[in-house]
Amino acid sequence: MLDLTDQGQEAAERLGDGVLELATYRDTARPGWTREVFSEAYRESRQWVSERMAAAGLEVQVDPAGNIVGRLAGTDPNAPALVTGSHTDTVDGGGRFDGVVGVLGALEAVQLLRESGQRLSRDLLVVDFLGEESNAFGLSCLGSRAIAGELNRADLDRQDYRGASLGQAYRDFGLDPGAVLQTRWARTAPLHAFIELHIEQGPTLEQRQLPLGIVTSITGIERLVATFTGSPDHAGTRPMNDRKDAMVAAAEAVLSVRREGCGAPNHGVATTTRIESESRSPNVVPSLVRMTSEVRSVDNGWLSGVRGRLAEEILANARNLGVDVEFDWSTDNTVVHAHAGIHDVAAAAADAVGIPWMPIPSGATHDAVHMAALAPMGMIFVPSRAGKSHCPEEWTDFADIATGVGALAQTLTRLDRTELNPQP
Ligand code: GLV
Ligand code: MN
Ligand code: MN
Repeated sequence: MLDLTDQGQEAAERLGDGVLELATYRDTARPGWTREVFSEAYRESRQWVSERMAAAGLEVQVDPAGNIVGRLAGTDPNAPALVTGSHTDTVDGGGRFDGVVGVLGALEAVQLLRESGQRLSRDLLVVDFLGEESNAFGLSCLGSRAIAGELNRADLDRQDYRGASLGQAYRDFGLDPGAVLQTRWARTAPLHAFIELHIEQGPTLEQRQLPLGIVTSITGIERLVATFTGSPDHAGTRPMNDRKDAMVAAAEAVLSVRREGCGAPNHGVATTTRIESESRSPNVVPSLVRMTSEVRSVDNGWLSGVRGRLAEEILANARNLGVDVEFDWSTDNTVVHAHAGIHDVAAAAADAVGIPWMPIPSGATHDAVHMAALAPMGMIFVPSRAGKSHCPEEWTDFADIATGVGALAQTLTRLDRTELNPQP
């Protein structure tokens, strides 16, 4: 069995150095540790990641979808590969750990395997997936979505706030959008399993004083862009009871979205992230306002009713104000359950090295959602200080990351020799 005790301190230091060094690749014009997909900071950081993978002894390639893939050869070239990894892009104003822990942690797991003298029978692929965070095009997990065959031609026409298309963004980044759509890993070789190490991004593990979470399911996400159309008018002369004010209708809708999240029976959340008004003058009654919201839950039953419930309430309130509404819904991802076999292997691995853990649902989405279409999937969480994430204060103690890496390495060695049944 892999002995992790002596290497813990050293691994924590190496990981910490890596996390802090990668964080220096950031957009200094933005707050926090910003490294958004397609940005210059991201482009430069990917060279650093590739070099780090090569230094860990991996054979590195970038696939046509822009994923950086490092391969550690196993002893049996015919055995379906094990895959691990995460992402290194951040949200605007984000932190240093989200995603990064799963990529650098995977490299540290490779180091642990090497130091223990173990060789896996299967190839191990460590992946830094392209652009996991939801971006200005309103789409998350670009790299994993593409290789799972879940990125569509129509997605390439999605526009950012300035009207530029996703297809053009790929081209500007040196990727051919046609080739991105064609990069389906299922067409090449079958995969044995996917396991992703990630920070929890919420407060549960810290509150329970537990170093590890083993993920049960990952939230589904419904996104809404609602367009409110009222009537432009003089803000000084039009009486209050005779207006069609699109901004007021949108403001009511923000509260409807919030109420929907608050009323969820089981860990549902609902957030409005953006309101844009076409009115530039401060003295015109707003006539065109766009609202961007999202609703999440691991409860498919509740989530499937969200569109109908919200549309009814928002429409009724808007009509009372004489305002029209158009709804543009999209499903970012449906609820995905971790593979029970991987969950059991990860639990046995943690138990074997004495790491206390709890089963935990994920309210954040992950590349693992899309990898689940390609292979049995599981995730391991490590604690987030004060549960903070998607903000500059995001922090996980390096020793906690090292514990997660220990669990990951153990899980990989066990998965290497475990046959996994198809998920019922
Ligand atoms: C990614 O972190 C997401 O949950 O949107
Ligand atoms: Mn993430
Ligand atoms: Mn994130």
